[in-house]
Amino acid sequence: MPKLNLGFLASHGGSNMQAIIDACKKDNFNAKPCVVISNNSESQALQRAKKEGIPYYHISTATHNDNVDDAIIGVMEKHNVDLIILAGYMKKLGDKVIEKFKGKILNIHPALLPKYGGKGMYGKYVHEAVLAAGEKVSGPTVHVVDLVYDHGRILSQKEVPVYPDDTKETLSARVLEQEHILYPETIKKIADGEIVL
Ligand code: GRF
Repeated sequence: MPKLNLGFLASHGGSNMQAIIDACKKDNFNAKPCVVISNNSESQALQRAKKEGIPYYHISTATHNDNVDDAIIGVMEKHNVDLIILAGYMKKLGDKVIEKFKGKILNIHPALLPKYGGKGMYGKYVHEAVLAAGEKVSGPTVHVVDLVYDHGRILSQKEVPVYPDDTKETLSARVLEQEHILYPETIKKIADGEIVL
């Protein structure tokens, strides 16, 4: 079976991206990191790509004005990307990209969707809301990206406990640890045909 070509979009740390890149190095992992795009020229995600020898691009409104969507599509096509992986990408992906790669874009969200998703629900805001609601469990969700924020088909989730003395920092760290397991696991299932997109 040919390898699944992965194209990443990341804005900051890229720790999820790194977990997937590391997983791709394993013998039985049928996917390959082909390209990394960031809207942030200073992002650690781009530094990680450089270190790993993966082609990388800075694409933002600063570099491409209102042609960001076309630039992203162009780069993904140039590198024969089969699956786009959003890994902490803080920009709303343009409809044009979503239509072009329909059903072939994944995102990871740090809560158990459909709860705690939608516009404005990212990073610390998600964990704050989970804590404020007194939830006893939280955890990441991997889902397909469609035109609505955090709305597409849910592919996988992993539960973690929420403790009474949790802060948004401790909860976020516990969820992130599981993200690093869940995202590569889910991509492997897609690459192996166990999950069909
Ligand atoms: C993660 O919390 C993920 O759930 C969210 O953005 C964060 C990315 O972290 N979508 P990193 O850049 O992968 O370290």
